[in-house]
Amino acid sequence: MRGKFITLEGLDGAGKSTHLSWLRRFLERRGIRVKVTREPGGTALGERLRELVLKGGKRLHCETETLLVFAARREHLDKVIAPALKAGIWVLCDRFTDATYAYQAGGSGVAWSKVAALERWVQHGTQPDLTLLFDVDPTVGRARSRRKKRPDRFESEQLAFFRRVREAYLRRAEEIPRRMRVINANGDLPQVRRQIEALLSAFYSRVSRHV
Ligand SMILES: Nc1ncnc2c1ncn2[C@@H]1O[C@H](COP(=O)(O)OP(=O)(O)O)[C@@H](O)[C@H]1O
Ligand SMILES: [Mg+2]
Repeated sequence: MRGKFITLEGLDGAGKSTHLSWLRRFLERRGIRVKVTREPGGTALGERLRELVLKGGKRLHCETETLLVFAARREHLDKVIAPALKAGIWVLCDRFTDATYAYQAGGSGVAWSKVAALERWVQHGTQPDLTLLFDVDPTVGRARSRRKKRPDRFESEQLAFFRRVREAYLRRAEEIPRRMRVINANGDLPQVRRQIEALLSAFYSRVSRHV
């Protein structure tokens, strides 16, 4: 049986990495083989692109960024994701195409339709079976990831960017409600964990009925 493809989305500090290991254990306890991966990244090329896109000194044009991310995604699908799914392994991926809609389209202003065209071109209809969107207020996410509460002027400008990113994520979730499930990630760890547990349990029993 083909593995399932689960993606985690949300702003930095939303809690994706924190809950990823719990998700993996949830599945492994049920005898499922799991591959954990991430985007940008997941392959040698992808990790180099990650460096370029996230760490590059001068910011790339937002469309260059989009094209690079999709080039890396093509390799990631071909070399890692598709072979794992075919072998019955479940793939847990920390960010995927919804992040391109959120950051490059929502945040940076790349046309939504261009991202959609690249999505069709690169993915040939492959989509996650389930996406957990960790929805967090940008100020909460930033405080968690930087442990700093008061923004300076530059960070305030950045806050507007992250608000647009969040809105785009939520727009995606509204467009594809069956696949994308929104988790309120503003609460404490147990509150977030309970929501994930409920969603994953429901998903697991739905798909294991078809085995
Ligand atoms: N619900 C939460 N409440 C409090 N702290 C959290 C919560 N979720 C995550 N954190 C903390 O915030 C930081 C960033 O979390 P992380 O899982 O790395 O986020 P992400 O991978 O989404 O960027 C970590 O130090 C983590 O322990
Ligand atoms: Mg993380």
